[in-house]
Amino acid sequence: MLNYPLHKKEKEDRIIWASVRSTLEAFRFKHKRSGKKTRSKWTLFERLLWVFKLLLKLAGLYEKGLANAKNIEVTNVKLAFPDLPSAFNGFKILHLSDLHIDAIEGLENILVRKIKPLDFDLCVITGDFRMDTTGSFRQIFPAMQKLMTVLRPENGVLAVLGNHDTYKMVDLLEQLGIRFLLNESVFVEKENQRLLITGTDDTYYFYTDMALHALEHNGNDFSIVLSHTNELSDVAAENNYKLYLCGHTHGGQICLPGGIPVISHQKEIRERVRGLWRQNGMMGYTSAGAGVSGIPLRFNCPPEITVFELMRGDTAPV
Ligand SMILES: [Fe+2]
Repeated sequence: MLNYPLHKKEKEDRIIWASVRSTLEAFRFKHKRSGKKTRSKWTLFERLLWVFKLLLKLAGLYEKGLANAKNIEVTNVKLAFPDLPSAFNGFKILHLSDLHIDAIEGLENILVRKIKPLDFDLCVITGDFRMDTTGSFRQIFPAMQKLMTVLRPENGVLAVLGNHDTYKMVDLLEQLGIRFLLNESVFVEKENQRLLITGTDDTYYFYTDMALHALEHNGNDFSIVLSHTNELSDVAAENNYKLYLCGHTHGGQICLPGGIPVISHQKEIRERVRGLWRQNGMMGYTSAGAGVSGIPLRFNCPPEITVFELMRGDTAPV
């Protein structure tokens, strides 16, 4: 039973969304806000990754990189907003991103151990549940089922799809209790006050104008965006959203000393590869992600899960 059941209009809109998303997936038509995305560079990137992986094995660094990828850090971030509804002062959001839960065997057990002792009111997941971008997806369910045993806060688990995900996952993951926001919004209510949370479909491979329209809201509610990438942050800021949570970059995943990414998979706004950022009056956070893709390794860029504590005020206490 979902915490946020679908209304009749949302069920109808989902039929349209699914027909568009399934067509884009079937034809591998990768489409960004700026236009069609080419595939040739990705093929080259995959070959380079294979060579890189071999070199690391020869250099004896592969096991170190794998151990780094399993060493998930919990990041605590306090954020202050003068217009936060008072009932939400101290409200905690657990943010998970880029789980790629089938990329590392047993990753779900590490996540369960890390998350179990945490205190949070709402969990949000900003996409990339599986490792590959095509093919099977059912292999993630046993791990997600186990993870859900610790993601059961009173206000539910909200999620968006990433560019590695398929529309086919939605029904099965919603049966586990994850409510997807597919260019949709829900209200989180507390003591007769509420937050608006909007989630967009992935815009890195599967951009449509439906994602833009989802961010057009007219109310005065304190509002938060969940999106796989930061590509819609300008639209969200224009529409008076206060907080934008995303992932996708993995923080670089393979970084030079000092956390300098070798590759970020983000042409837009490169400085937002991880951590806090601001766009006009809106705060944003790019998670470095809990998992890995490409190769199951990390260097100079620890995986993270993040707990945000929302505070009412001008500045957050340190
Ligand atoms: Fe990812």
